[in-house]
Amino acid sequence: MTRIRKAVIPAAGLGTRFYPLTRSQPKELLPIVDKPVIQYVVEEVVASGINEILIITGRGKEALTAYFEDHPLDGERGASFGIDSLPPINFVNQRQQKGLADAVRYAKNFVGDEPFALVLGDTIYTSKTDVPVTAQLLAAYERLNSPVIAVERVQHEKISDYGIIDGKEIEKGIWKIDALIEKPEPQNAPSDLGITGTYVLASDIFEMINKIQPGKNGEYQLTDALALLQKERPIYGVEFEGTRYDIGTKELWIKAFAEFTRKDVRFSNLI
Ligand code: UTP
Repeated sequence: MTRIRKAVIPAAGLGTRFYPLTRSQPKELLPIVDKPVIQYVVEEVVASGINEILIITGRGKEALTAYFEDHPLDGERGASFGIDSLPPINFVNQRQQKGLADAVRYAKNFVGDEPFALVLGDTIYTSKTDVPVTAQLLAAYERLNSPVIAVERVQHEKISDYGIIDGKEIEKGIWKIDALIEKPEPQNAPSDLGITGTYVLASDIFEMINKIQPGKNGEYQLTDALALLQKERPIYGVEFEGTRYDIGTKELWIKAFAEFTRKDVRFSNLI
């Protein structure tokens, strides 16, 4: 386990790709088998040694806060939600949905001067080893003493859905980043290494966020802030050992639901 104690989970996005479902239902509370996505995310960071959590919420996300309040059934037989084993969860409200980098800005007070894990509220990781993916990134941060970003190879035709890195592989699966580009056209992309939604960062990211302008879609892009940071000091892409389930679109959510159901002995006979 590392010394890094804090995790920030942005979950304020409008989820427009899920309309109309997300008119009043946060996508982070969509079920995957019998738990909402956000619970997988929280369990992942807790299993990685994190003991202070900040969830960034926003418009129409009141149910997310309610989910983590005490409930009369907590501790009852059959109630799977082990709130007693969870660290305190803090919430902050992103006032306008101006992009991921803007959301991260709201974590400044919580983070203080400490390094922190940044883990998206709409993405679940499963590990191929005993070490959760967040813990793999935390260990890489400590070893390299530099910000790290989880990356994975993405299909050529999907490249324009991702922030893409350019860099040199300094050891197996560790890339020293030379450039970051948000959603390039596949023919202009420097690589097929896509940024997937887990980061370990230090407090200097906030200075970089303050310098950027809104980019693609009028949103403040974290990739742009990371590109500024990369000019100041080394940052690394880490190919993690595991599988990522982004549940941000209907198709991806349905696929993730089906895959988790197939792997769950309680329900696998149903599909
Ligand atoms: P996405 O771009 O996938 O989420 O952001 P979105 O904006 O909710 O989705 P669409 O594009 O409208 O369908 C990735 C993560 O960043 C958070 C989201 O909640 C998600 O966890 N986010 C995004 C914020 O917290 N605030 C924002 O302004 C934007």
